[in-house]
Amino acid sequence: MECLLLLLFIASNTLPCTDATEDFPLAMLANDLLANYSKEVLPVVNWQSSLTVHLNISITSILNLDEKNYRLSMYILFTQGWYDYHLQWDPVKYDGITHISLPTNEVWYPDLIIDEMVSKQEPSRPPFILVNASGWVDNSKPLLISSTCSGKMQSFPFDEHVCSLSFRSALHTSEPLTIRFE
Ligand SMILES: *[C@@H]1O[C@H](CO)[C@@H](O)[C@H](O)[C@H]1NC(C)=O
Ligand SMILES: *[C@@H]1O[C@H](CO)[C@@H](O)[C@H](O)[C@H]1NC(C)=O
Ligand SMILES: *[C@@H]1O[C@H](CO)[C@@H](O)[C@H](O)[C@H]1NC(C)=O
Repeated sequence: MECLLLLLFIASNTLPCTDATEDFPLAMLANDLLANYSKEVLPVVNWQSSLTVHLNISITSILNLDEKNYRLSMYILFTQGWYDYHLQWDPVKYDGITHISLPTNEVWYPDLIIDEMVSKQEPSRPPFILVNASGWVDNSKPLLISSTCSGKMQSFPFDEHVCSLSFRSALHTSEPLTIRFE
């Protein structure tokens, strides 16, 4: 698609190929970042390193409480962040750009599965992710969760419960992917 657009541009303006992106630092940056990118490979400096995915979870709303089975259905906002070694750049070389959004399906993305998710499919990916010049990627998405909680719920929500959530990676067992809560 990009190729087609570029060709049309050249045809109508008779500009040489190289000038097309030089005028658009954002397009040039996206091209450079994705030029030699392998989205199937864990984005680490060498294959022996591990990658840490940082997770934040906040409950946005509680939908249902099943007192008999101690189950709680809720919407959570699930935020994950990680450093992608390949997605770093020097802002000075790109007109001072410090952030860029890239199509999620063109970069590495954690394949985390939450056992308590109501829909058992892989959590849907947002179409774009935001990256900064240090290669820090983060994104948030709402998820519907049904979790088993400890203790009786007679005085809910004015009491305390511990509800379990388990995260795992579909592909990577413990190493080389580390999951960390904040
Ligand atoms: C991609 O790799 C080729 C061949 O190794 C290299 O010539 C080119 O400069 C690389 N492009 C970027 C944007 O790093
Ligand atoms: C998680 O929340 C903490 C505290 O609000 C924040 O410092 C951190 O950057 C967040 N991490 C992610 C991945 O959003
Ligand atoms: C990118 O984001 C990370 C995490 O918030 C931060 O530590 C780093 O300084 C940011 N880098 C730039 C260039 O903004």
